[in-house]
Amino acid sequence: MAQKELVPGLAGVPAAESAISYIDGAAGILQYRGYRIEELAVESTFEETAWLLMEGELPTAAQLESFRKELGQHRELPSPLVSMLHDMPKDAHPMAVLQAAVAALGACEPRVPFGDEAAFRGAWLRLLSAVPSIVATHERFRRGQDPISPDPTLSTAGNFLLQLTGDRPSKIAERILDCALVLHADHTMNASTFAARVVYGTQADPYASICGGVGALSGPLHGGANERVLASLQSIGSVEAVDAWAQDQFANKGKIMGFGHRVYSVKDPRSHALQSLAVKLFDELGSTPIYDVALKLEQVVVDRLGDKGIHPNVDFFSGIVYSKLGIPTDQFTPIFAIARTAGWMAHLHEQMQDNKLYRPGQVYVGVAERPYVPIGERG
Ligand SMILES: CC(C)(COP(=O)(O)OP(=O)(O)OC[C@H]1O[C@@H](n2cnc3c(N)ncnc32)[C@H](O)[C@@H]1OP(=O)(O)O)[C@@H](O)C(=O)NCCC(=O)NCCS
Repeated sequence: MAQKELVPGLAGVPAAESAISYIDGAAGILQYRGYRIEELAVESTFEETAWLLMEGELPTAAQLESFRKELGQHRELPSPLVSMLHDMPKDAHPMAVLQAAVAALGACEPRVPFGDEAAFRGAWLRLLSAVPSIVATHERFRRGQDPISPDPTLSTAGNFLLQLTGDRPSKIAERILDCALVLHADHTMNASTFAARVVYGTQADPYASICGGVGALSGPLHGGANERVLASLQSIGSVEAVDAWAQDQFANKGKIMGFGHRVYSVKDPRSHALQSLAVKLFDELGSTPIYDVALKLEQVVVDRLGDKGIHPNVDFFSGIVYSKLGIPTDQFTPIFAIARTAGWMAHLHEQMQDNKLYRPGQVYVGVAERPYVPIGERG
């Protein structure tokens, strides 16, 4: 049988019909359910966005209030999971801990039979509420601190900062994190969303499927890039050192973290929005030298590679914002996962409506059929 032609990385191959988000990569447009991301980041909250992604419409004031209440009631973690977080090695990467913890959460929760809408909704509330608690509780334990009880009256962003630091966050810190969560909530058929849909397509449960998403998100070519951006900016150290560092990367064909995207050939719209957030934050809390290094790096990279469609992506400014909020570098990707849980769950729900098991083909490049060689005759 003739083999089909391989599309490396399945680039551009549609994997599903989806009504959740839309990207125009050449124009730098991202929409959730038809709403522009820039508008949602300014006008909406993460809770409204999570509702929009799942339900297809923005919530009414009454729907939002009861949704916020429900989320607030699902934040306490089951005790076997708290013990597990306590016992994790102090130097474990938080994404590895998060992946294990989501699996453990699934083991502690009622089963979610495939196609059961009520059970699925329960898992949606549980995951949206518990994932931030997992990240914050693990951070407390690894610092040798006691976990902080969640406050059901706070927003997802506000409660996360409270559980992380032990202090009620300032209005600006809560709002900035809230915007960042909105900006990261969904992004069409990216690697982690595809991974989560593939797992869910086997009729596995939502917790197992979100574990798949977390694993895919942890890689440096996907969510893990934001940590590396900050490491690069810190290693460059000063505006004066940017040019030589970048020329070295160009000469060695190094991938500069926080630049380039499979879909966007212009500056990522989320990067624009995150940059505005960074500026707002610096107006209140004072700037940070690393931001000047970032601005210079953007200029040098875009001058050299802009014609090839290499521009800042979502990860370029997010780390600068999070570090200004006092969040440790290796917690940047878990925060991405907190936000993306909203998108992943909306995609699982969509997958449930018209499920087909994913079973791609391959292009076989191995040896042709040959006779078996008994062990005594092998060279
Ligand atoms: C995101 C990414 C994987 C997309 O990659 P892609 O569409 O598969 O593009 P490729 O990796 O094939 O790169 C195409 C060309 O652009 C160059 N390029 C892509 N991203 C680059 C970057 N960040 N820095 C320098 N050059 C880059 C490649 O070297 C390649 O050049 P060549 O044609 O001369 O060989 C890639 O841009 C990347 O690795 N970026 C850094 C990691 C990152 O920030 N990830 C977060 C994404 S939101």
